[in-house]
Amino acid sequence: MKFHVFTFGCQMNAADSGWLTRSLENMGWEKAPADQAKAFIVNTCSVREKPEQKLYSELGRIAEHLEREPGLFCAVGGCVAQQVGAKLWNRFPFVRLVFGTDGVAQAPQAMARIAREPRLRVSLLDFSDSYIERDAALPGPLDSPRAFVNIMQGCDNFCTYCIVPYVRGRQKSRASEAVLAECRSLAERGVKDVTLLGQNVNSYGRDKGGDGTSFPQLLRAVAAVDGIERVRFTTSHPKDIAPEVVAAFGELENICPTLHLPVQSGSDDVLRRMGRNYTVEKYLGIVDALRRARPDISLTTDFIVGFPGETEEDFKATLELIPRAGFEGSFSFIYSDRPGVAAAKMEPKIPAEIKSWRLDELQALQNARQQSILQGLVSSVAPVLVEGPGKRRDSDAPAWRGRDAHGRTVNFLAPASPDLFGRIVNVRVTEAKKHSLWGEILP
Ligand code: SAH
Ligand code: SF4
Ligand code: F3S
Repeated sequence: MKFHVFTFGCQMNAADSGWLTRSLENMGWEKAPADQAKAFIVNTCSVREKPEQKLYSELGRIAEHLEREPGLFCAVGGCVAQQVGAKLWNRFPFVRLVFGTDGVAQAPQAMARIAREPRLRVSLLDFSDSYIERDAALPGPLDSPRAFVNIMQGCDNFCTYCIVPYVRGRQKSRASEAVLAECRSLAERGVKDVTLLGQNVNSYGRDKGGDGTSFPQLLRAVAAVDGIERVRFTTSHPKDIAPEVVAAFGELENICPTLHLPVQSGSDDVLRRMGRNYTVEKYLGIVDALRRARPDISLTTDFIVGFPGETEEDFKATLELIPRAGFEGSFSFIYSDRPGVAAAKMEPKIPAEIKSWRLDELQALQNARQQSILQGLVSSVAPVLVEGPGKRRDSDAPAWRGRDAHGRTVNFLAPASPDLFGRIVNVRVTEAKKHSLWGEILP
């Protein structure tokens, strides 16, 4: 059976789609372009209205394939599936499986049954009380020396704007032994760079599913796995980051000097109404401690602009935070009402054009900051983990692409080099592009 997967949303969705693909391949199914597929998976995100809409436009496009393939069927997974559920198949009869996060493990079997039984529809939307282990789907050939490892599911924070706790369920930590076993097996296959994944990794272990291991302990154990040369983790909530985690940046060489620490706003008043449980001062205190532990740390963040009631002054305070915290990069989003969350009832809503001006202003400031940081790296030398062939540009010399320890993309020329895939090589930075670096391999 030929299948095609569409993935929207965060790295957790990307990781789920990777597992689903490998599982279907293990059943003998074959990955194919959309115009040849007979089965589709759409793995959805509902964090803002725009990604939610993408599901409906994708289903519209899939419907066009019905002419070619009247028997085709589609599975809808992820956060919109959890939110909208079986209602989807009233509107789209070819949707025959809906599955939420806790249904991922059973989805491949359900798809196999649906393929055999033409009238069958399956819904896998129940939340489970504990983290559901999945079969270690046999990996194919190693396609990247970097890998993502889930350490938990769900979130208990209920930030007032956020739908994630409703669609991903309560926090459930994965057993530390299972996390470590996965890291060891990845390392044996040649993976060198591991990112531990969860909506709120710093509260790992603090739920019923926890096995007594805290996040700082887990981090140390993963960093000690033979062959894992780089460890990262995401996402961190500022209110939960423990002093031991901050200290680890200074103590463990293979904890990468980079942290994504979503701040959302630079105004205490907005932060309070977002239910974030920290102030700007507390946040900047964490930033200072991180820089003391690891002076070269690269910090990135998330911002929401136009939260209900955000004044011009609140927004100015957010702008001021970029230089104060020294963010190297950020994702910024226009506030979007989500069904059922507390902020949906908060007033006044900010008009769309003001929200988009604010977004433009914030992004312009952030881009300028990122440029100056990247420019400052020209002529420095960075160890780069090579992920694959790079852009050739004007030269014919072989080019490669990889990342430095901070997570920056580096393209570089490597004349007369053997296959560098998966190796860490020293690259001299020669040029800063908009969001990436160019360089030359050192002999
Ligand atoms: N668990 C992570 C990320 C959650 S979603 C965390 O706590 O940081 C990723 C980002 O989407 C959030 O950090 C936030 O900036 C943004 N986001 C979430 N809900 C949103 C909404 N309703 N409107 C706009 N942006 C939102
Ligand atoms: Fe959403 Fe807040 Fe949980 Fe992040 S911590 S997923 S923003 S509720
Ligand atoms: Fe989106 Fe769900 Fe991730 S809402 S951001 S795919 S947790």
